[in-house]
Amino acid sequence: MQIIDGKELSKTIKGEIAAKVEKIKAEGKRAPHLAAVLIGEDPASQVYVRNKVRSCEQVGFSSTLVRRPSDTSEEEVLQIVDDLNKNPEIDGFIVQLPLPDHIDENKITLAIDPKKDVDGFHPVNFGLMMQGLPCYLPATPYGIMEMLSRYDIETSGKEVVVVGRSNIVGTPMAVLLSRKDNPGNATVTLCHSRTKNLAYHTKRADIIIAAIGRADFITGDMVREDVVIIDVGINRVDDPTAKRGYRLKGDVEFDTVAPHSAFITPVPGGVGPMTVVSLLQNTLKAYNKEVF
Ligand code: GUN
Repeated sequence: MQIIDGKELSKTIKGEIAAKVEKIKAEGKRAPHLAAVLIGEDPASQVYVRNKVRSCEQVGFSSTLVRRPSDTSEEEVLQIVDDLNKNPEIDGFIVQLPLPDHIDENKITLAIDPKKDVDGFHPVNFGLMMQGLPCYLPATPYGIMEMLSRYDIETSGKEVVVVGRSNIVGTPMAVLLSRKDNPGNATVTLCHSRTKNLAYHTKRADIIIAAIGRADFITGDMVREDVVIIDVGINRVDDPTAKRGYRLKGDVEFDTVAPHSAFITPVPGGVGPMTVVSLLQNTLKAYNKEVF
């Protein structure tokens, strides 16, 4: 069993990005600039956005955090998006999800200029991805592809089972791993909450991508020997003995699954850090106008 160390890999890639930024600055040009919009006080979102801003600093990017209270109107958020779209100093930006209930997430996503949509959530980017054309890949799937690639994990001809069909992770993962590319060329099964016999599918899998959002959902009896496990789950589970009163758990029950695995990502320290790095990579692409 080998741990896929997302924390370490993310440091390596951040180092590569930092070197590119230094070169840009040495040429007398401005640094790439990422903005993040955070509406409300969702505790997990606050942590994610803080990580994104801190990661910008680590690689030498400029960053801007636009924070507003949870009672901010939809109109006001659309105005923020419009301002960021028009601001020539901002290369890319994200609106952290989830948004408060009174704001239509689809409406906000559609208002983002696809050229600055470094989350890859706008239908223009999603559509380009579906057709295998240059685009901003959504950050989590991009990070997972990078992990598979840098750990030399063969996907061609393999049976991949993706559990979870969200627009952010499950669906793009299924598309990326089945396309004619490397990583890719896998035979992909997309499982979800209505799948009848989930264990039947997971037991056949060479690679499992778990993105369901339920702690310890995939257990040791559901996998075969030498499986590769990519655990996307970041679930908060109450734990009075922990400093913060909770612990982070993946969608995969690590202790029972790891002994059967060839490779496995831990939680925390697996996919999470790679997601942030992908956002930086997309921002650099936006800066260099590599996509549009
Ligand atoms: N909420 C959970 N994941 C993400 C993400 O990748 N981007 C944004 N904007 N919000 C999220």
